Amino acid sequence: MGCSIWFNLSQLFFFILSFVQLTPSRAQLCPQDQSFALLQFKKQFSFDESASQVCEFRNIIPSYPKLKSWKNGTDCCSWDGVECDWRTGNVIGLDLSCSCLYGTIHPNSTLFLPPYIQRLNLAYNDFVSSPFPSNSFDRFSKLTNLNLSSSGFSGQIPLEISELSNLVSLDLSSNSQLRLEKAGFELLVQNLTQLRELNLDEVNISSVIPRSLLNLTSLTFLSLVSCEFLGEVPDQLFQLPNLKKLDIGFNKALTGHFPEFNSSSPLQSLSLYHINFSGELPDSIGNLKFLNVLSIGSCGLSGQIPPSLGNLTQISSLFLDRNNFIGKVPPSLSNLEQLIVLYLSDNHFEGPIASVFPTMKNLRYLDLGTNNFSGQISSLFANATLQQLVVLSLSYNQLSGTLPSQVNGLSHLRELSLDYNFISGAIPSWMFNLPALESLDLSYNKLTGPINEVQFNSLRYLDLGSNKLYGNIPSSIFQLVNLTYLDLSSNNLSGIVSCNANSLGILILSRNNLSGVTKHCLRKLSRSLLVLDLQKNNFYGNIPNTFTKNCSLETVNLNNNALRGPVPDSLVKCRSLQVLDLGNNKIKDTFPYWLESLSYLHVLILQSNRFYGPITTFMTQFPSIT
Ligand SMILES: *[C@@H]1O[C@H](CO)[C@@H](O)[C@H](O)[C@H]1NC(C)=O
Ligand SMILES: *[C@@H]1O[C@H](CO)[C@@H](O)[C@H](O)[C@H]1NC(C)=O
Ligand SMILES: *[C@@H]1O[C@H](CO)[C@@H](O)[C@H](O)[C@H]1NC(C)=O
Ligand SMILES: *[C@@H]1O[C@H](CO)[C@@H](O)[C@H](O)[C@H]1NC(C)=O
Ligand SMILES: *[C@@H]1O[C@H](CO)[C@@H](O)[C@H](O)[C@H]1NC(C)=O
Ligand SMILES: *[C@@H]1O[C@H](CO)[C@@H](O)[C@H](O)[C@H]1NC(C)=O
Ligand SMILES: *[C@@H]1O[C@H](CO)[C@@H](O)[C@H](O)[C@H]1NC(C)=O
Ligand SMILES: *[C@@H]1O[C@H](CO)[C@@H](O)[C@H](O)[C@H]1NC(C)=O
Ligand SMILES: *[C@@H]1O[C@H](CO)[C@@H](O)[C@H](O)[C@H]1NC(C)=O
Ligand SMILES: *[C@@H]1O[C@H](CO)[C@@H](O)[C@H](O)[C@H]1NC(C)=O
Ligand SMILES: *[C@@H]1O[C@H](CO)[C@@H](O)[C@H](O)[C@H]1NC(C)=O
Ligand SMILES: *[C@@H]1O[C@H](CO)[C@@H](O)[C@H](O)[C@H]1NC(C)=O
Repeated sequence: MGCSIWFNLSQLFFFILSFVQLTPSRAQLCPQDQSFALLQFKKQFSFDESASQVCEFRNIIPSYPKLKSWKNGTDCCSWDGVECDWRTGNVIGLDLSCSCLYGTIHPNSTLFLPPYIQRLNLAYNDFVSSPFPSNSFDRFSKLTNLNLSSSGFSGQIPLEISELSNLVSLDLSSNSQLRLEKAGFELLVQNLTQLRELNLDEVNISSVIPRSLLNLTSLTFLSLVSCEFLGEVPDQLFQLPNLKKLDIGFNKALTGHFPEFNSSSPLQSLSLYHINFSGELPDSIGNLKFLNVLSIGSCGLSGQIPPSLGNLTQISSLFLDRNNFIGKVPPSLSNLEQLIVLYLSDNHFEGPIASVFPTMKNLRYLDLGTNNFSGQISSLFANATLQQLVVLSLSYNQLSGTLPSQVNGLSHLRELSLDYNFISGAIPSWMFNLPALESLDLSYNKLTGPINEVQFNSLRYLDLGSNKLYGNIPSSIFQLVNLTYLDLSSNNLSGIVSCNANSLGILILSRNNLSGVTKHCLRKLSRSLLVLDLQKNNFYGNIPNTFTKNCSLETVNLNNNALRGPVPDSLVKCRSLQVLDLGNNKIKDTFPYWLESLSYLHVLILQSNRFYGPITTFMTQFPSIT
């Protein structure tokens, strides 16, 4: 008992001690003049809470109007987003990112910010194309961090920004109307020698990369995406001694080649997506042992992938897509056990897919499309448990064999694209029961057999076109609530179809033996349908005259069926109609002059029917009429 009291007392004593230590007595409240300046600043804006999604979308904290807590008569150091020096009470930081600020900043009016400020973050607000504040830089010489990312500034960034020579971090990214002239960029990099982080993504600089940038040896983070740079990338840029993240992607006029890398490089993320490089990937890429992200897609590279790439065992995202790589993928790539994203699409890789991926158990996004990979498709899974796959694309290769049963277990799979291969056999029923699948493309293969009843509900996109499928189209397909695209064309499907799925935008059933009475398919088309292609089937009977003013159709192709009767005049309610092909049927009518009122109609095909009566001036309006 006594022991336990002693214990409690000592705890209490300890608690009091730590309370005294951790709570500094802040004698100073926020000085009156600074509080005043902040309230003046607040007066310039309104709050647009609808703008809040931007921050949520980017996975930053949700937006909310921080300035609502700023009230005259209270200590400004307690206001949301305000950071004070606890000794002096001076306002030294303002983090107003994602604060729903809305309003123009007059070029003369930013002086309302307090003078001791070191860190200013106004990112993700909307200053509605305000020009960049220009006359206040001398007052903010203490600034070390300035973040105006995605805040709607426009116009030229004034040269005076280079007076902020204490800046350690500068982020002006995602203000697509901002420009920085060549001289301005040079001054900036000459004078801001302390910079550790520089992000100018989407600022239009349109000049060469100045050599003075190479003097910024403290840089750890450099992002210059989509700045319209020209000319050659200096090798030394990759060798900045502290650089961990370099992104110069989407500068399509930037030329250059890969330099040699040495093992002292701290690079963790290297992104050169969509620039105009040439040459090969050097062996020394394998020296970048801290590399986590390598994004060199659409970059003009050729040659083989060096086996040393397999030394980058930290790598989690690897984009080599849209280049001219040739040869086999080196087996060493199977060392990359941390890989989550692997894009090798649009190259000239060849060889069996079997060997490359057995140990990549974390892989979520795998795109090997548009290459010359060969072998049995099931061999991809032979030794691998690719349980985490979300996207699997093997389109446009030389793969054969039947659909691999291992796909059945992939509970996260959202997109499966195996089109343009030589896959044979039937489509197993589990294929239509994958719980997360949203997009399935098996078109242009050699699949045969009937289409099973579908059970999944999340499917949006289904393309089984250009195979050898036969039998009826199961009506469950048309009950999929989220299906917007359905292509079953160029098979041997037969029977009656009811085409009225609620959400369908595009329905392509052409080149089959569908012979159902048209009223099952055409009587109650969904409002959302834009494209209806039933050509080359055996539809017969009258086209129902049931089009309503909700009709969204842009393309109707009923060519090569056995349709009769008149052209339904309710078609005139489809105000967006652009293409109408009724050719090669048995339609008996006079010329449908009333179509003239459809102002977007530019292709009208009525040939090989039983039209009668005169045709006059009307036809001249059509670029394509037969
Ligand atoms: C704050 O209130 C004081 C009086 O309490 C007043 O003099 C001052 O003008 C107010 N400041 C602002 C910015 O409204
Ligand atoms: C802005 O400041 C400049 C120079 O300080 C001055 O010439 C100009 O008249 C001011 N503009 C407005 C609208 O106050
Ligand atoms: C460069 O920085 C110094 C302070 O370090 C400043 O006095 C000078 O005006 C700046 N130069 C330019 C061109 O901004
Ligand atoms: C700028 O602020 C945004 C929003 O808070 C943040 O995501 C971004 O990382 C900041 N930039 C820098 C360079 O710190
Ligand atoms: C970038 O600036 C250059 C020169 O001022 C201009 O020619 C070009 O059109 C601009 N690019 C964009 C995307 O605005
Ligand atoms: C890099 O810095 C050095 C030393 O400050 C200077 O002499 C040199 O001119 C700078 N180089 C460039 C290209 O600005
Ligand atoms: C890419 O660079 C080559 C020369 O290496 C040049 O011929 C080509 O025009 C460049 N392309 C672009 C889009 O600048
Ligand atoms: C890597 O490069 C740095 C600087 O360029 C150099 O000091 C170092 O010796 C090089 N290391 C190796 C292993 O080549
Ligand atoms: C890097 O890869 C090459 C080729 O695969 C290999 O010979 C070399 O030993 C590897 N280096 C290291 C440090 O793992
Ligand atoms: C695949 O190989 C064939 C025959 O060698 C070639 O014609 C084709 O261009 C190659 N495709 C790709 C994507 O490299
Ligand atoms: C797959 O595993 C089998 C044994 O289970 C082995 O013989 C074969 O070499 C492995 N294939 C690959 C590509 O690792
Ligand atoms: C259908 O789509 C909606 C909207 O994207 C989504 O919320 C819903 O979960 C989807 N339904 C199924 C069964 O996946």
